[in-house]
Amino acid sequence: MIATESYKPKQFNLSGLKGISDQTLEMHFKLYEGYVKETNALNTRIAEFLKDGRVDQEEMPLYSELKRRLGFEFNGMILHEYYFSNLKRGGGGEPDTRSSFYKAAEWSYGTYDIWKAEFVGVGKMRGVGWAMCYEQPDGRLSNHWISLHQTGEVAGFNPVLVMDVWEHAFLLDYKPAERPKYIEAFFSNIDWTAVEGRLNQAKFGATGSR
Ligand SMILES: [Fe+2]
Repeated sequence: MIATESYKPKQFNLSGLKGISDQTLEMHFKLYEGYVKETNALNTRIAEFLKDGRVDQEEMPLYSELKRRLGFEFNGMILHEYYFSNLKRGGGGEPDTRSSFYKAAEWSYGTYDIWKAEFVGVGKMRGVGWAMCYEQPDGRLSNHWISLHQTGEVAGFNPVLVMDVWEHAFLLDYKPAERPKYIEAFFSNIDWTAVEGRLNQAKFGATGSR
């Protein structure tokens, strides 16, 4: 959308996580706020082009560049909001075996452990990006890699568990080669209730053929 109304950074109270320091979180919140600011700035500039009701041919190069950047900044903002809100102090453990998430993991991957092994595997992939667990429209789970913030997202899939694996997410706490330790820390803080709440099948009833 052409948002003339600007987005406001959300607040997350996450101090005291296990294995992800408050210092890392403070720095990460600032980075997130940068994405919100840039999204607003780009939307304002893009709106300028449309004031006369059209995008003129001579405006096209700059307009195109701003629209491309918007995909990066906008998704950077949204993915961080998913990430921070699927963590909580006192989280972690495993999802309830009776939960829709656990059942969907079993349905989709055979066992929860296999689902987890794949999600962790995606998180360890070399490169800058995100590990994503989506709920497909039929209710199955599907793990994916996103490069940067915007390459690899699957249209119509619902993000349910989102893990930032850009190095800024853990570099103050772990060495670059210690990403697996960060992933372990991430798992020890997951807010499984929040994850469950994102599932459409938990909200609207199972749509899959189980
Ligand atoms: Fe990040």
